[in-house]
Amino acid sequence: MTDHIFVGTDTEDVKQNLLLKMANRHGLIAGATGTGKTVTLQILTEGFSKAGVPVFAADVKGDLSGISQAGSEKHKLHEKLLSRARKIGLIENDYEGMLQKGYGYAAMPTLFWDLYGKQGHPVRTTISEMGPTLLARLMELNETQEGILTIAFELADDEGMFLLDLKDLRALLNFLSDNKAEISREYGNVTSQSVAAIQRSLLRLERAGAEQFFGEPALKLDDLMRVDENGKGVVSILAADQLINSPALYSTFLLWLLSELFEELPEVGNPDKPKMVFFFDEAHLLFDDAPKALIDKIEQVARLIRSKGVSVFFVTQNPMDIPDSVLGQLGNRIQHALRAYTPKEQRAVRAAASSFRENPAFETEEVITDLGVGEALVSLLDEDGVPGIVGRTLIRPPASRLGPATRAERKAIIADSPVGEVYDKSIDRESAYEVLAEKAEAMEKAAAKTEADAQKARDKAARKQTKSRRSSRRKTKTVSDHILYEIKLVGRQLMRRESRRLIRGILGGFMRK
Ligand SMILES: Nc1ncnc2c1ncn2[C@@H]1O[C@H](COP(=O)(O)OP(=O)(O)OP(=O)(O)O)[C@@H](O)[C@H]1O
Ligand SMILES: [Mg+2]
Repeated sequence: MTDHIFVGTDTEDVKQNLLLKMANRHGLIAGATGTGKTVTLQILTEGFSKAGVPVFAADVKGDLSGISQAGSEKHKLHEKLLSRARKIGLIENDYEGMLQKGYGYAAMPTLFWDLYGKQGHPVRTTISEMGPTLLARLMELNETQEGILTIAFELADDEGMFLLDLKDLRALLNFLSDNKAEISREYGNVTSQSVAAIQRSLLRLERAGAEQFFGEPALKLDDLMRVDENGKGVVSILAADQLINSPALYSTFLLWLLSELFEELPEVGNPDKPKMVFFFDEAHLLFDDAPKALIDKIEQVARLIRSKGVSVFFVTQNPMDIPDSVLGQLGNRIQHALRAYTPKEQRAVRAAASSFRENPAFETEEVITDLGVGEALVSLLDEDGVPGIVGRTLIRPPASRLGPATRAERKAIIADSPVGEVYDKSIDRESAYEVLAEKAEAMEKAAAKTEADAQKARDKAARKQTKSRRSSRRKTKTVSDHILYEIKLVGRQLMRRESRRLIRGILGGFMRK
């Protein structure tokens, strides 16, 4: 079994190998647009898959889907790929030799996933699993609003209500605002304005298409950690072309996935190879406008998840997009070309260059702007965890297809998938929405009964009154009348509240369509 992934060969003929046991020291793939980041991600993914390591990667442009298909001699770049393979010593002679030497075209076992459920199996989680903190980030709530969301979660917990989908959350928020006086007394201050603001965020979230994402069956991590019958790690590709337009949803989802992995996986120390690898494309989206607390959290998760055997690669155009505290933890680095036209770009080039261990053979800073497509400055960790001297490296060509899978190919893989049966149909079991609706109905019935009882009592009292008009019961009658009046009043209030809620429920359903 191999202990490394061959990345490419540098100008000094050094083979740049990513050691599998150092992969959990994380990594960075950076470079301007069109410089070869996705292909680098692809060849690393192939390497992990071949080594039996499952991979999860977001596919921002759809081109990573080609990993599910074998490359082909008919591909328009076939000759170019061969010549590159020859150049870096992947094959020595001809195409026959290439097959013998291991640069055979091959597809990787792939699962397609999609938060919107269109280009892959639906990925879902429940509101409860997401938790108030991440949800608050997703809904872009302020601190006060987040506090109220936390109260809502506590309340649901105390009442034994499941929070699965967005309609559960909506029902719960309605309940919160209807009963804010009592709830404030018990849990802390709940104001109508804040609840209304959360409700508006919820609406925004629905408009962003998040409705699909919350519900059951929720994604099981085991299904992202599969190995196929030949011992290859299964590659999970998340369709992110549309998702990327909702940066909050995209980044929160990936963050959620990381924190789930962190919580559920056991400690493994320093394994011979990672348990799972996670590629975080367009990583800047995670950090844009992120509050310090969140960055601290990401930094912490990245640091701690290592010992769970999870390896994270951040992929981004500019390494400066990533905060230093996180950047400092990325041991394996592949830097594709950067542009240096503006002062800001020049600063980025300088910063990127200074992060490498110098090679006396060249000026790192100069080379960064001079790199060709599919060429990169590479520095990987050695056996002792020390970064290697930077090498100007021609990255190996992929064995799987360069470019996207066709729609039909994707469809065939989805149809043939071992997890389709589990995820492709949503289920809607009893949760907060149903419980609260039931409660509302029960209250309505109770209110009607109270009203009926009151009427009965009134009738009875009236009968009694006529019977003994001249007796001395006048006083008692007044008191009972008063009580009956109170009951009636409460009953009416309840009725009004319930019918208001029902109307809101109907409107809510209407708005969703
Ligand atoms: N290792 C490689 N071997 C062969 N060809 C490559 C390699 N890397 C890149 N290329 C060529 O360069 C093209 C662009 O690469 P790629 O799509 O990886 O760039 P990118 O940095 O991901 O761009 P973007 O930022 O636009 O997503 C590829 O389609 C391919 O033709
Ligand atoms: Mg790309």
